[in-house]
Amino acid sequence: MAFVCLADFQKKAETILEKSSLEYFQSGAGDELTLSLNREAFKRLRIRPRFLRNITKLNTTTTILGCEVKWPLGISPCANQRLAHPDGEIGTARATGKTGGIFILSTGSNTPMEEVAKGAPDTHKWFNLYIYKDRLLTESLVRRAEKSNYKAIVLTIDSQISGQRRADIRNKFSLPPNLSFANFSDSKASTVKSSGAGSGLSEYFSSLFDPTITWKDVEWLVKMTNLPIIVKGVLTREDAILAKEFGCKGIIVSNHGARQLDSVPATIEALPEIVDAVGNDLPVMMDGGIMDGNDMLKALALGAKMVFIGRAAVWGLACNGQKGVEEMLSILKKDFEVVMSLSGCLNLKSIQPNLVAHESTYAKL
Ligand code: LAC
Repeated sequence: MAFVCLADFQKKAETILEKSSLEYFQSGAGDELTLSLNREAFKRLRIRPRFLRNITKLNTTTTILGCEVKWPLGISPCANQRLAHPDGEIGTARATGKTGGIFILSTGSNTPMEEVAKGAPDTHKWFNLYIYKDRLLTESLVRRAEKSNYKAIVLTIDSQISGQRRADIRNKFSLPPNLSFANFSDSKASTVKSSGAGSGLSEYFSSLFDPTITWKDVEWLVKMTNLPIIVKGVLTREDAILAKEFGCKGIIVSNHGARQLDSVPATIEALPEIVDAVGNDLPVMMDGGIMDGNDMLKALALGAKMVFIGRAAVWGLACNGQKGVEEMLSILKKDFEVVMSLSGCLNLKSIQPNLVAHESTYAKL
């Protein structure tokens, strides 16, 4: 089967992955209302294309936190990528580098961050951090990220405990014996294993992540390192303003792939109020539900500086390791370029809010 869109990779991955791994990647929290919304909300936006512009010189480059990237697409932090394929995080990071986007490595990587850095030295990489009860351990992750040339710390703020992912509870999600959270050497922090009552990942969050954290701890992190701190998981203008006040250098509007709190808005719905609140001061980025070039264009039009994809990378990896992610990314890039061209956008600056309209604009018909 030839792949022509991202959904093709998902279909194929569904036939390859073993049940517990597939459902771990696929599922959202609760009733999965937000999981559907992340996709549905994009469908409620229409593109207002502009024609008869010379479209021969398309430029997709942008600058983010002082760094030029070839296009505004990155890979969200996804834990446990070696569950999808032995190429794992190194494969995804290399593939991302080839198309010139940004790769965010999860704390819950099955490959140590140093090995990913060595394996994909030319990829622009950020490190995704969770704050552990053990603050020395947390600080050591930041120091190792600095040493290994990660260019930013992406702090997840929506996961002081785990969301209720029903599939993981039913499957008593655990990592197989050959895999671990490889950024850690001690067995408590490296092992994800259900005690028998539910999701092993949920038990991991509860026993190791710090449920007491507040914006003061964001300040602690900002002061600890010279790397820019980006907060991931912001869904309201109020938290966006706090992020700015507490010294963060960027925001990723995200609902954690709908895996944490259900019934929160789709990220494309939350994006405009956050751009409105802080978009002039900080780069606002987003992930959640992006499946093609149209979705990318809509998110950029509503003010996102970069967009990120998570599950699609895992599907690419499951289908054919690093090569699968490369193929998935090149399909997405081509699609984005076609959509830009057909909308009359020659560069990212020309992707403005008036390029999209909500379906209610046309509702009278
Ligand atoms: C997840 C966590 C580990 O969503 O980020 O699985």
